[in-house]
Amino acid sequence: MNLARQIEQYLPQPLLELVKNISGQAAKQGQRVYLVGGIVRDLLLGDPSLRSGPRFDLDLVVEGDAVKLAQQVAETGQAKLLAHHRFGTAKLRYENFTLDLATARKETYVRPGALPAVTPGTLKDDLIRRDFSINAMAISLASNDYGELVDPYQGKSDLEHRLIRILHPGSFTDDATRILRGVCYEQRFGFEFEAQTARLLKRDIPMLDTISGDRIRHELEHIFEEDRPELVIKRLSELGALHRINPSLKGDGWIAEKFDKARRLKKPSQLPSLYFCLLVYSLSEKEIEQFLARLNIPAKLSLAMSDTLRLKTSLPFLNKSSLKPSEIYYLLREYEPLAIQANAIAAESPTARRHLQLFLTKLRYVRTSLDGEELKKLGIPPGPKMGKVLQELHKAKLDGEVRTRADEKKLALSLSLKS
Ligand code: CTP
Repeated sequence: MNLARQIEQYLPQPLLELVKNISGQAAKQGQRVYLVGGIVRDLLLGDPSLRSGPRFDLDLVVEGDAVKLAQQVAETGQAKLLAHHRFGTAKLRYENFTLDLATARKETYVRPGALPAVTPGTLKDDLIRRDFSINAMAISLASNDYGELVDPYQGKSDLEHRLIRILHPGSFTDDATRILRGVCYEQRFGFEFEAQTARLLKRDIPMLDTISGDRIRHELEHIFEEDRPELVIKRLSELGALHRINPSLKGDGWIAEKFDKARRLKKPSQLPSLYFCLLVYSLSEKEIEQFLARLNIPAKLSLAMSDTLRLKTSLPFLNKSSLKPSEIYYLLREYEPLAIQANAIAAESPTARRHLQLFLTKLRYVRTSLDGEELKKLGIPPGPKMGKVLQELHKAKLDGEVRTRADEKKLALSLSLKS
C-alpha cells in the first residue's frame, strides 16, 4: 500500500519539505528514513484532526546514524537541534514542529519495568519493540519507494478490525505503562483489546508496581491530554489498574461530572493540572501523601494538590451566605489558585462554590488606588500603622465601602487619626 497521497495531503507543507530533505540527506549516505508510530496510524485512520493544533510532532526512524543525520540537518540551517543522546536519538525543531529522530534499534529488557538495553537494529527490529500493532507501522520516505507502508505485524488489519494487540506475550511485563497506553487508545478510538491482549493485560496489572513514579505520572499526563480523560480513568478503574497505582483512587461518575465541568471552565493547557487535583479529591491526607510520593509529583503541582484537600476541609467556613467579600478574601488568599479552582468545581455546597468563584474571578484582583507612597504624601508615616491603614483600605475596597480615590483618601485620613 502506498500512502504518498495521504502524506502530501495531511502534513503541513513546510514540515513535508523538511522530512523530504532529511530523507534526501540520509540517502546520500546510503541510509533510509521512515515515518513511524502514531502519525502512520493516524494517516491510515484518515483523520488529520487527530494531529492538528499548534504543535505537530513527528517520529522518524533512521536505518543509519540518527544523531549524525540530525546534526547535519541542523548545520544546513533547516532546523534547530534541540537535543541528542547517547542512545542514538535526536530532537529537531522547526517553527512549531518537533521531529524526533531515532536510530533503528533493538531492545532487550533486563528486568520488568526497567529501561531496556539498546543496540542498533533494522526497521523491523525497531517496530517489534513497540507497544501495539497499530503503532508498529512505518512509511518509507526514500525516493525509490516514497510512501510505501511497512507493516510486518498486521497493524493495518488490526486498525480495520478496530483492535489493540500487543506484539508478543511479554509486552506488558516488559513495560507495564503499555497497560495505561492501551486503555488510552481503546477509549480514544473506541477500539477493543484483542482477546489474548485483554487476558494478558488483566494478568499483568500487578506489573504496574515495577514502573517508576515518573513514568506513571508521564502516562497520566498523556491521558489528561485526551478529549475525555474520564473515560480512560473509568476504564482503568474497572480493570483494577487505577487501584494498583493507589488503592484509594476512584474513576466513578463523580470524576466524569467534575472533569466535564473543568473543561467548560478552563483552557486546554490548564486542564491536566486541574484533573490531577480533582483525581485526588476523595483522598485522605495520608493517602495523598502516598500518591504524591508514588508519582514523584513536582513541587508546584504537589502543593496545589495538597492545598486542594486542605481547602476542602475548610469549606464549611465558606458555606455561610452572610460572608463579606473581605472575609472570603482573607480565608482564601493563602491557597494556590488551582486548589481554589478545583474546589469551586468539586464543592458540594452551591454557596461555597459561589464564594470560591467570586474569589477567582474578582476578589483576588482587587487593589486599592492608594499605595504607601501616596499615604506618605497624606502625612501617614511608614511603619506598622501604615500597614494597618493599607489593609483596612483593601478590606473596605473589597466590601464596596470605598469606590473612588477620594473615598480612599478620606478613609485613610480618618483611620490615621485613630490611635
Ligand atoms: N512507544 C512504545 N511503547 C511505549 C511508548 C511509545 O512502543 N511505552 C512507541 C509507539 O510506537 C508509539 C511511539 O513510540 O507510536 C510514539 O509514542 P508516543 O508519542 O507516546 O505516542 P503516539 O503513537 O505518537 O500516540 P499519541 O497519538 O497518543 O501521541
